[in-house]
Amino acid sequence: MHKIFAKPLFLGKKVIFLTDCHSTNDEMSSMVKKEDFSEGLIIYTDHQKSGKGQRGNVWFDEAGKNVLMSVLIKPTYLAISDQHLLNIVIGLSIIRCLTKHVEEKRIKLKWPNDVLIDNKKICGILVENSIQGNKLDNSIIGIGFNLNQKAFNLPSATSLVIETGLEFERDEFIEKLLIDLEYFLLKLKNGQKSLLLQLYHEKLYLKGEVSTYRDKEGEFSGVILGIDNTGKLIVSKEGNFHNYDIKEISFLS
Ligand code: BTN
Repeated sequence: MHKIFAKPLFLGKKVIFLTDCHSTNDEMSSMVKKEDFSEGLIIYTDHQKSGKGQRGNVWFDEAGKNVLMSVLIKPTYLAISDQHLLNIVIGLSIIRCLTKHVEEKRIKLKWPNDVLIDNKKICGILVENSIQGNKLDNSIIGIGFNLNQKAFNLPSATSLVIETGLEFERDEFIEKLLIDLEYFLLKLKNGQKSLLLQLYHEKLYLKGEVSTYRDKEGEFSGVILGIDNTGKLIVSKEGNFHNYDIKEISFLS
């Protein structure tokens, strides 16, 4: 049984807990097609049988250990061309939440929005938007946050218990995370776009450092400069600037 998330202002006023499901994002997507739910609906689960990651990847979990949650928001105030700002807001919210437990300088946002601690991934975000006319309608924010899982098949993954040595009460953690999410969502709603972009760039993984990437022409040494106004990654390659969409570049380090 879940505890009611009473403290956030508008997120979590309605909460659905599922013992297991295929994917909380898919559950929410089929529910919102059938009924007009208010902003703030939360669906979370102990275990996903086919959790979805970015780029068609599968998101694996050990049952009962992690935050596997979808949040419904209605960013009708946001232009379609600004939808990447949702990823930014969520990434910044996770950082705000994490800094209560881990030194801030250890935390980075890997473009577009993986949250890393000391270069290891602790949280993945999958935002799925639906569009009405030229505006965003429903936005399903999927958050997979590794909380109490102690071992992973991937050496590049970590969790809060690994990083702190402490176990966390999941529902309390979710409640605090929702408060941080609201904090940044309200900044977005209030039009504080340049502040959000500045904070994002300050936390951007490998920004200003030479590293190895792959694009359609092969491997190269490049330097991340930031993101452009559509959310594409700007990388300097052989003295020229290139703007990459999500499937057009891979990080090799
Ligand atoms: C990534 O690849 O980094 C994104 C992972 C997103 C996983 C979360 S878990 C809750 C929600 N439901 C899903 O099926 N995926 C997201």
